[in-house]
Amino acid sequence: MSEFDLENPVLPRAIRRASLPSGDYPYSSRMKRKPYEKKLRDLQIELVKAQRSVREKGQRIVVIFEGRDAAGKGGTIFNFRQNMNPRYARVVALSKPSSTEAGQWYFQRYVTQLPTAGEIVLFDRSWYNRAVVERVNGFCTREESEEFLDEVPRFEQMLVDGGLTLFKIWLNIGREMQMKRFHDRRHDPLKIWKLSPIDVAALAKWDDYTAARDRMFARSHTAGTPWTIVRSNDKRRARLNAMRHVLSHIDYEDKDWDAIGAIDPLILGSSPDILS
Ligand code: ADP
Ligand code: AMP
Ligand code: MLT
Repeated sequence: MSEFDLENPVLPRAIRRASLPSGDYPYSSRMKRKPYEKKLRDLQIELVKAQRSVREKGQRIVVIFEGRDAAGKGGTIFNFRQNMNPRYARVVALSKPSSTEAGQWYFQRYVTQLPTAGEIVLFDRSWYNRAVVERVNGFCTREESEEFLDEVPRFEQMLVDGGLTLFKIWLNIGREMQMKRFHDRRHDPLKIWKLSPIDVAALAKWDDYTAARDRMFARSHTAGTPWTIVRSNDKRRARLNAMRHVLSHIDYEDKDWDAIGAIDPLILGSSPDILS
């Protein structure tokens, strides 16, 4: 791995070739564009139907997308919402807390973003910042992170008891895939805005992130509010399976199970155990 240099416009072949298989990825090639686009369309049609039903029934839906930097959260969210009515499907991507927010109860700025009846809210990162990003980068103390891990199951149980439907999705990528995507960002003028100092720092903190991630799962994967793991080295398979998962857990009229299709158990797991 020593040869990786973010600044060098040439990504070493060894890293490029290791990117898709990294992190025990089960496929040796990416899904082809044509079948992907066809399935994506089918699933987006189902999402449109599901959204209509959520509105009519006044349901409140939250989908949290978590994962390492460059896991593909932004792109997955974009595809989820692409054909939904934006008035009732919101993306929440909060930046670092302002000084006012930093002085509030930790969950407060997230609570104000929760959906009202009929709304779907997609979180690009979430209150779980305190379990991983903040902890690894020293933006909170160890004690604050532990306190968060103690409280989060109760917090989420209250949300669910209050009638909210909560999905917690962890997009998982391997180490060389993260390097490749950072490298793509660094040298593509359309993607450079995505590369943050936190991303650059993450390169050297891979193991710290892994430990924080596993600690988060151990403390917050509960029967009432479980984590769903999506292997995301191939963004296409990841997106399709994340959509299948959400659609299979929302009741809506005229649901077409054939259009939804089967979840690929090599890609999506209903427990963090698939990573160990
Ligand atoms: P993103 O991955 O969302 O594009 P970054 O990589 O810059 O953005 O940051 C990752 C996360 O860390 C974001 O949710 C950001 O709000 C959070 N963050 C960055 N700096 C701080 C800070 N000083 N305190 C708390 N959180 C922070
Ligand atoms: P994109 O986010 O689609 O712009 O792709 C960013 C980088 O990820 C590109 O340089 C591609 O090589 C790679 N890439 C694109 N599509 C996929 C995919 N389906 N799975 C894995 N990597 C991909
Ligand atoms: C992602 O790709 O997971 C998101 O865009 C977040 C990021 O890494 O900046």
